[in-house]
Order: sequence, then C-alpha cells, then structure tokens
Amino acid sequence: MSTADLILGIETSCDDTSVALVGRDGQVVACETVSQFDIHAEFGGVFPELASRAHLEAILPTVHKVMAAVGSDPARIRAIGVTRGPGLIGSLIVGVNTAQALGIAWDRPVYGVNHLRGHLRSPDLDVRRITYPALLLLVSGGHTLLCHLQSAVDVTVLGTTRDDSVGETYDKVARMLDLGMPGGPALDRLAVQGQPVHRFPRPMIRDGYEFSFSGLKSSVARLLEKDPGVDRADVAASFVAACLDVLGAKVRRAIAEYPSGSLVVVGGVAASPQIRALVEGICAENALIPCLPPLKWATDNAAMIALATWDYLENDAPKDLRTTPSLSLAAW
Ligand code: KG4
Ligand code: ZN
Repeated sequence: MSTADLILGIETSCDDTSVALVGRDGQVVACETVSQFDIHAEFGGVFPELASRAHLEAILPTVHKVMAAVGSDPARIRAIGVTRGPGLIGSLIVGVNTAQALGIAWDRPVYGVNHLRGHLRSPDLDVRRITYPALLLLVSGGHTLLCHLQSAVDVTVLGTTRDDSVGETYDKVARMLDLGMPGGPALDRLAVQGQPVHRFPRPMIRDGYEFSFSGLKSSVARLLEKDPGVDRADVAASFVAACLDVLGAKVRRAIAEYPSGSLVVVGGVAASPQIRALVEGICAENALIPCLPPLKWATDNAAMIALATWDYLENDAPKDLRTTPSLSLAAW
C-alpha cells in the first residue's frame, strides 16, 4: 500500500506557472515550470492580464505532467499548497482556484501559502542546508528583506526596502543600459567586463536595517543623461559595487547583533554570481554556513511552495485561501 508522503505545490504568483511534488525532507519528485517570458518580453515587464490568461492555459497540463511522476494516482498526495500572495491578483486566483478544485476532487486539505515563506525554504530543496538560528536576506524582483530566523516558521523581520527592491533596481538599470530582459543576469555579465570607477551613492548604508534603492537608480540615470558616451560596462560594475556594499554592510551589522549559525540568501537576485561571492566571503569571515539555493531553485518555482506547505501542515497553520497581493513575510 502506498503512503501519502508528498505535497503538491502550485505557484502562479507572477509570470511562471509551476507545479511540483515534494517530500517531507525536501526531496523533489517532480517539478515543471512553464515560463511566460516570450509573452511579456515585448512589454519590457510582466503584463498582468496576459499573465493570468497564460496561467489558465498552462496550469492543468502542468498538473497532469507532474502527476505522471506518480502514475497519475493521487494516493501519494498528503496535501496541496498554493501561493496565495504576494503577487498579481489575477495570477494568484488561477492557482488558488485550481488547488481548491483538486482538493475537492482528491479529498485533500489545501493550504494557501505565503510566496516569501516558499523562498525562505528554497535552500532546503534536494538537500537540507539551513541550520538555525539563521539570518535571511531575501532579494527578489518584488522584495528586499533582512530577517532573523529562530526556526523555519519563527521569523523576525529586521528591515525592508522603503522604495524599490534590489531586483527591480537591477532590472531598471539594465533597461537604462539597453540590456533587454531579463535585466538582472545581463547586467551581471556586463559588470564583470567593467571597473567600478563611478562613485554612486550607498543609500542608508550607515543606518540600521532598512534599505532604499531609488536614489542609487536615479544617480545612474543622471550619469547616463550627462554623459551618453560613458563606458556602459563601467556603469554596470559601479552600480553592482554600490548594491553589494549596501547589502554587505547590513548583513554584517545583523551578524554582529543576532548570533546565527548560517546566512540564508534567497530570491531571484541570489542567482547573481557577484551576490553569491559576497555571501561566501562574509560567511568565511564570520564562520557562518552559507545557505543558497541551487540556481534552479533561486527563482520562482512550486517546489519551494510545496516544501513550505509541510511547515503549514505540521504547525497547524490556517488553511487560508484568500488571495492577498501584498502579503507580508510575517503572515502565514
Ligand atoms: O524571485 P524572483 O524570481 O521573482 C520574484 O518573486 O520577484 O526574482 C526575479 C528577480 C528579477 O528582478 C531578476 O532580474 C533578478 O531576480 N535576477 C537577477 C539574476 N537572476 C535573476 N538579478 C541579478 N543577477 C542575476 N543573475
Ligand atoms: Zn519570488
């Protein structure tokens, strides 16, 4: 007889339709992600109306594909977890409705999961990496957060951004440099070819744990306006250097104040080689274990949502399916 040892995760908060089957210890039995990259590329950003339509088309075929890994038999599904926020409302609704329908059809509990709690669990996919207490730096397109974690579910937010997120800033600066989409990786590649010769501001570097990136972004725009012929690789290198200085300073401050065993860095920007090198360096200096998700789990995926759902199940979290576009990390 088979046991119900897997959670089915569904992620549709932005522009990736993703479905996964994950066991209690983070073993990924299947994960399928359909990217909408080509649909949005011509708009230079995600077009919400088109995103929900594309999710609607992709979601059921993706569920079928993933379920094929268990012989299309729901017997091994213990529960279903679906992102309920933060994200685009129309996109979130497609995921939540699908999860509810599957829950009724299979008679399984359905948990509405916080996308940010998914990111925070991503380094424990495939192999357990995080040791608690830990410091968490979450750097994605939508969020910049520095947190202290007593456990996977006991989270204290130390600081967040007052304006743009790191990922958003990377994307906007990439656009100013005509690097196309996706901006972050292209900017990283250009930066390694240049020198950090421009001294851009390091906003709020001396103050606490809050972040601000809009001033840095404006400085880049002003330089490009004043000197259109400026070496673009040097601009990229100088911008990345400013971001790394700010992130590094805040993380070092938090390490001094909050004793921790590991430094967890998650979110799309954690795919950046420069950020990864910074984290390795800080961890070596402070005898911390660096916990970064493998590259494939750094960006949005349903495996991290399924793993987070195990925490919901084991902590008797509410089965809250209200879609919430601006859900904070403190919420279930
Ligand atoms: O976590 P994510 O996949 O989606 C959100 O939930 O926001 O993060 C997407 C962000 C984008 O801003 C993208 O430019 C950035 O992650 N990103 C990178 C890299 N790869 C993705 N930023 C810098 N360097 C990269 N290699
Ligand atoms: Zn994300």
